[in-house]
Amino acid sequence: MNAAREPAARTPEDRIAELREQVAHHNRQYHELDDPEIPDGDYDVLVAELRRLEAEHPELADPASPAVAVGGAASTAFAPVVHTTPMTSLDNAMDAAELRAWGERVLKGLRDLDGAVPTFVCELKIDGVAVSLRYERGRYVRAATRGDGRVGEDVTANVATIDVLPDAVAPPDGTSVPEVLEVRGEIYMPVGSFDALNAAADDAGERRFVNPRNAAAGSLRQKDPSITAERHLAFWAYQVGELSAEVAPVGHHTEYLDLLSALGFPVNPEMRTFTSLDDVLAHCLHWQDHRHDLDYEIDGVVVKLDDLAQRERLGFTSRAPRWAIAYKFPPEERTTRLLDIKVSIGRTGRATPFAVLDPVFVGGSTVSMATLHNQDQVRVKDVRPGDTVVVRKAGDVIPEVVGPVPALRPDGAEPWEFPTTCPCPLGSTLVRQEGEADTRCIEPTCPFQRDQRIIYWASRGAMDIEGLGERTVTQLTERGLARDPSDLYVLTADQLTDLEGFARPSAEKLVAAIAEAAHRPVPRVLTALGIKHLGPAASQALAAEFGTVERVMAATADELAAVDGVGPVIARSITEWAEQEPNRAFLARLRAAGVDLGSEEAAAAAAAERAAVPQVLAGRTIVVSGTLDAYTREEAELAITSRGGASPGSVSKKTDALVVGASPGASKLAKAEQLGVPVLDAAAFEHLLETGEIPGRDAGAERNS
Ligand code: IVH
Repeated sequence: MNAAREPAARTPEDRIAELREQVAHHNRQYHELDDPEIPDGDYDVLVAELRRLEAEHPELADPASPAVAVGGAASTAFAPVVHTTPMTSLDNAMDAAELRAWGERVLKGLRDLDGAVPTFVCELKIDGVAVSLRYERGRYVRAATRGDGRVGEDVTANVATIDVLPDAVAPPDGTSVPEVLEVRGEIYMPVGSFDALNAAADDAGERRFVNPRNAAAGSLRQKDPSITAERHLAFWAYQVGELSAEVAPVGHHTEYLDLLSALGFPVNPEMRTFTSLDDVLAHCLHWQDHRHDLDYEIDGVVVKLDDLAQRERLGFTSRAPRWAIAYKFPPEERTTRLLDIKVSIGRTGRATPFAVLDPVFVGGSTVSMATLHNQDQVRVKDVRPGDTVVVRKAGDVIPEVVGPVPALRPDGAEPWEFPTTCPCPLGSTLVRQEGEADTRCIEPTCPFQRDQRIIYWASRGAMDIEGLGERTVTQLTERGLARDPSDLYVLTADQLTDLEGFARPSAEKLVAAIAEAAHRPVPRVLTALGIKHLGPAASQALAAEFGTVERVMAATADELAAVDGVGPVIARSITEWAEQEPNRAFLARLRAAGVDLGSEEAAAAAAAERAAVPQVLAGRTIVVSGTLDAYTREEAELAITSRGGASPGSVSKKTDALVVGASPGASKLAKAEQLGVPVLDAAAFEHLLETGEIPGRDAGAERNS
């Protein structure tokens, strides 16, 4: 049962039979057992192929085909509920072209009748469990799953535990309570609740749920509603089903949504209406990019006609309405074959296992490699070469192998052993230190580490050398043109034109980009050195404190660790790096090559700024009289003026305070008393310098003193 495998069947008839069997099997796993074996993405591929073949071969049509039927049979654990009107499914548009084609069909269907311009309602396609909720005379009486669309399961007691659902509907003022109201919508598990549930499963050593939808379905199928109550399920209403006649019929879907909202049902706030297909598509693509901004999972956008009369004209096909379509986002999970597991060597020597995959389209691009993080992860996931594995690529996250599909493990697939030697030509020993998750190549001359260091140096977060990617770097190192990043700065356009993929203009462009990137700010250079643990934030803090790369390298571990945002681990890593002679030589080569490592003047300016005393006395006039133990008269005046204050020789009505030491001038003291100017002793002066507060004058000063 695997979409990723080559079709084994030869004739269309055989293939259709095979696909029907597979789709039926997965329907059962998904709808009845809450235990999907394959990701939705794979399932959609199977169904799409089956539908295509059935359309091409009408002679092989079968009304019982799982491509026609909706969902799965209701499982026997819960009492059956017959839906008064069937809960149909939706047709899918798997890309922009299919959405447009649907839109064209709708326009054509309506134009043939009266040329009306339709309004499209776009709703998020919530990835949960479709249910029908029945209220009689305003009271909640029943909830049922969709089941096969005709008969679902009674989940009344479990759904009753969902907080966001009203027990009784409260009609807006002036409207009567309908005798019967059926609300359809999606029960879902918010991502936060899902993560908490899986964290608890981890703690208890229990099996994790594969995704929030599966967790929601499992939570609804609990025998004990108190368990459902703990699962924090939620609901979005998107349709009114049966509705008795007391409520005046409305003409538009959006009016029903308003009614649902007014009756107290959660209606998703991201609903939008459009009158152009271009806008509909733009909206779909927007959510494709932003799907992870939400605290619930969506797998597409449902586009519906707003006008109910227009809906009526278009009607239904055998399985779905013609007036709606589900624009499905590209799947973020697919299965494929794990061909091999290899390790890559990073710039710090870390050996990271990665999966070599049969290429698969997932998360919007074709993936042929995915990280496996480290040795323990491979063991915990128990993925073995030859396995069929689930690959996930969500948003900007790098592709990863989620785990194997155990049912599809080939005979003889052996657990993978972490290699003992570096894959580089030197083949040095890989070491895993006690208590560390990572295995490392500790050979300083490892050519793979060297390549990665140069790639990292040029990368966007570091020196940001435009146009210098992995392929160019490996060509440069293979030809001996770059041993470390300092060699980049002496490259000529002539040398570059010899490389694959370079012509004269691109070579000149790269030389210029390298030269331009020689003058990046110090924090970037610090980051680019690729010192273990030293990232951009700590680099920024160190540059602010020390000004130049060389000063950072000359600092002691204690001095480094004293900087805010730099702990002892980073500090030690830096001093260890700086102590190594090849690294010192490398820094010297960088400076010689013209890379800006920060100037002493800039460092001095930074130091002055850092030393700059807070201007707590700005606008204040403080007169000093007599001798203070800790200050000469000049020092006391400097302490005032360097904090922004003025310190004239005599007291006037502008004076904010008089500081007195031993033997103050009698006239100053008398004048201060006469004008009501506060008189401060040595301790109050210290407080003043620190905080700018004058006891007896400023609010809070008394509290402090
Ligand atoms: S409307 C006849 N609206 O997607 C139209 N369905 O693939 C009935 N779904 O069965 C469905 N969000 O489980 C509709 N905003 C939404 C939806 C939605 C999620 C689910 C629902 C439906 C399935 C179709």
